Amino acid sequence: MHFDRAINIEDLRQMARRRLPRAIFDFFDGGAEDEVTLRENRAAFERVRLLPKVLVDVSAVDLKTDFFGKAANLPLAIAPTGGISAGRAGSELALARAAKAFGVPFTLATPAAVTIERVAEEVGGRLWFQLYTVRQRDFREKLVARAKNSGYEALLVTVDLPMSGKRERDPRNGFRTPYNPNWRNSRDVLFKPAWLLEIMRHGLPGMANFEGYVFSTPKGTDIATAVGQEMDPSLDWEAVKRLRELWPRKLLLKGVERADDAARAAEIGCDGVIVSNHGGRQLDGAAPTLDALPQISRAVGSRMTVLLDGGVRRGVDILKACALGAHGVLTGRATLYGVQAGGEAGARRALEILSAELERSMRLCGARSVAEIGPELVFSGNPSRNPAG
Ligand SMILES: Cc1cc2nc3c(=O)[nH]c(=O)nc-3n(C[C@H](O)[C@H](O)[C@H](O)COP(=O)(O)O)c2cc1C
Repeated sequence: MHFDRAINIEDLRQMARRRLPRAIFDFFDGGAEDEVTLRENRAAFERVRLLPKVLVDVSAVDLKTDFFGKAANLPLAIAPTGGISAGRAGSELALARAAKAFGVPFTLATPAAVTIERVAEEVGGRLWFQLYTVRQRDFREKLVARAKNSGYEALLVTVDLPMSGKRERDPRNGFRTPYNPNWRNSRDVLFKPAWLLEIMRHGLPGMANFEGYVFSTPKGTDIATAVGQEMDPSLDWEAVKRLRELWPRKLLLKGVERADDAARAAEIGCDGVIVSNHGGRQLDGAAPTLDALPQISRAVGSRMTVLLDGGVRRGVDILKACALGAHGVLTGRATLYGVQAGGEAGARRALEILSAELERSMRLCGARSVAEIGPELVFSGNPSRNPAG
């Protein structure tokens, strides 16, 4: 099937699966250990029931929202995902272009295959940079300076990765650095000619922003572990304060699940938090983000931007997150499947699907704008507790 004919994100996921060697698809698709949190992120969305308003004139519906004083066409930004050009060359640029075309922000990951500067020069648009706080402090501060000089609007500091989660699919599939074919993955690769031809043309990507960085990890370690071992496990609130001094624009902490942590982030001058468990790739057993969201929103939602990621696969998921207090969502895998299925056009298809589904869900709920997506749309299961009566 051609990606144009995908009618939902799951279709794009299946197309990506067919195109990619298993080791690579599993790196994108999988989570940590028993993948409980990965599944629960989805399950939490599926548990929410809505109470649609009827007889509202929904002939005009506005999906625009405000991120940091500037309009975005959807309450959505693209999440940082590292290592994705192993699936298709130029994936980061393609996602950045699709985001720009849609008028939503794109977040470049520290372990991307393209440099901070190149995305800004070649694509532009609203760019956010995700910082992995590597052990070499000079190096991480250089990354921050580079993002600043290239005009990035926001810095997302990932705080849920003092080391990597135990992602069991990767060592099982032999997905290591460097990626060496063995008997099992050779067979896997040979049956994926479209992927193989591209890789023969472009080569396997490196991590462009780590140029000049000396990795301490022995070769042959799986990729997540290799990156994880470079993280500074001593990172604490003092280190965030230092970043706050260095970074003059919007500063967000990515990977917060507790209201007290979110409150502390607000106190030290952060502009936002991303309620995230890294898409179930870090602590298995971490709470699903949608369940963690309401407390965080109550604690800091009026003081700072609260975004959520993890498990967003439908437009109605965006509506549910907003109803439960998020100002917007980030998509990791949903847009990643799109770009893997069909490059930039595939990424646009993913955004088109999410946008059209959100618009439809808003009409069906009687919400004419993002501001009208409120908690009264959520069915609590208990009429006496339900704000709608
Ligand atoms: C393949 C892949 C690579 C990722 N790489 C990064 C990364 O480099 N930095 C980061 O902060 N988060 C990373 N994440 C986590 C995402 O930013 C996001 O939190 C997560 O994907 C959201 O869940 P979802 O995929 O269900 O939307 C990655 C996720 C995936 C799937």
